[in-house]
Amino acid sequence: MKEEAHMHTACPFSELAPGKAIRLNTSPPLAVIHTKAGGISAPDGMCTHQDSFVADGWVENRSVDGPLHSSGFTLRTGSVDAPPANLPANLPVRSHEVTVIDGDIMITESTEAPNLPPRLTVDGHVRHQRMNPNQRTCSWL
Ligand code: FES
Repeated sequence: MKEEAHMHTACPFSELAPGKAIRLNTSPPLAVIHTKAGGISAPDGMCTHQDSFVADGWVENRSVDGPLHSSGFTLRTGSVDAPPANLPANLPVRSHEVTVIDGDIMITESTEAPNLPPRLTVDGHVRHQRMNPNQRTCSWL
């Protein structure tokens, strides 16, 4: 069964100036980016390598580089910039459909499963590792 797409109201178009980005606290969080060239993109907000918000990094007209290790993602597709692949992030973020309806930026969330960084859950919580004293193994909570 295919999951139904969710539509989110980001903000009025007039309130997101070129060169600015906002975070939507959806599950998982999304980034809404207005490039200096005038394009609006909505990739997943969290880098696929670690728990960091990609739009806190460097936004170019076609890509965004995360703030921690500068891995870049193409805004249109969410793919890791290539060539060459920018490590350490090697999985793409999703890219969501953007429309402007009655002056509001609307995001239709992709129904694909997100590539979340290790230990981050869809609702943005970090799972903590706990040692199981009986089995002497670690498990993620
Ligand atoms: S957190 Fe994005 S590349 Fe490391």
